[in-house]
Amino acid sequence: MRLQTSHKKILITGANGQLGNALKAVSLDFTEYDYIFASKMMVDITSENAIKEAIQTYQPDIIINTAAYTAVDAAETNEEEAYLLNEKAVHSLATLCANHKITLIHISTDYVFDGNSSIPYTETSTPNPQTVYGKSKLAGEIAIQGIENLTYAIVRTSWLYSDYGHNFYKTMLRLGIERSNISVVNDQHGIPTFANDLARAILRLIPQLDDVSKGVYHYSNTGITTWYAFAKAIFKYSKLDVKVMPVSSKEYPTAAKRPKYSILDCTKIKKTFEVYCPFWEEALKK
Ligand SMILES: NC(=O)c1ccc[n+]([C@@H]2O[C@H](COP(=O)([O-])OP(=O)(O)OC[C@H]3O[C@@H](n4cnc5c(N)ncnc54)[C@H](OP(=O)(O)O)[C@@H]3O)[C@@H](O)[C@H]2O)c1
Repeated sequence: MRLQTSHKKILITGANGQLGNALKAVSLDFTEYDYIFASKMMVDITSENAIKEAIQTYQPDIIINTAAYTAVDAAETNEEEAYLLNEKAVHSLATLCANHKITLIHISTDYVFDGNSSIPYTETSTPNPQTVYGKSKLAGEIAIQGIENLTYAIVRTSWLYSDYGHNFYKTMLRLGIERSNISVVNDQHGIPTFANDLARAILRLIPQLDDVSKGVYHYSNTGITTWYAFAKAIFKYSKLDVKVMPVSSKEYPTAAKRPKYSILDCTKIKKTFEVYCPFWEEALKK
């Protein structure tokens, strides 16, 4: 039997990560919910028992799964670990959510696409991941979609940054203090997404998420840029005097191939849930 509380309860997994911290920050503006922020120590989602215990203890109405194997390059050599977290654990979590009538909000990525497009990817564009990370995240999406009687949203996002965790924005701020010039890739196009904007969109879609509106959604800030132009903007707004030099992906090889084009079309989420997607440079300025 469920405890009688006036507020719906949201359990956030992976809560010590970047998006988990952003959700913590914006939750102060969404006081209609009770929150349980569960770090990996509190709820290891690779343990079915740990998920069951958490459900039993906290009796959440909604679970937001921000936990993931996010080390894109390391995933190329740690395939098993990436799939364990991004597919197998997600499948267990989603199954338990369905059994307990808990709504699941799961976060996915632009890496499910191959990056060869020249027009923004919609939710109906065909995925074609080129990396282990992207493949394991797509496998997680498919696992969720295969479960009956589950109310869910899979929210794909791109180029996430914030004041928390490891991300490009924080790396640039650190390098900007250490160096007077820096080379940054200028042939990959995408949209930086401020994690607090994504967190706000997630909390905003909850009241309208049901069996009709369930499905895959894209959420990012708007516009289009490159890592080079993003780095320049970061230094401009943080008033760091750093010379940024554009380089090509060939000059900056990585274990996992990066998509050349990662623009997500966010029309569906805006229309369905009336969420706000600020222009990326405005979000950065703030
Ligand atoms: N970052 C991006 O640019 C980006 C872009 C598109 C989509 N996404 C997606 O957005 C979501 C959030 O990303 P993020 O940047 O917030 O990731 P993050 O900072 O790496 O956070 C992930 C969190 O998951 C935790 N975790 C790892 N293994 C776990 C386990 N077995 N059980 C429970 N928690 C576990 C991690 O804890 P430890 O740190 O203690 O291991 C970490 O706190 C992910 O689904 C990611 O795939 C990210």
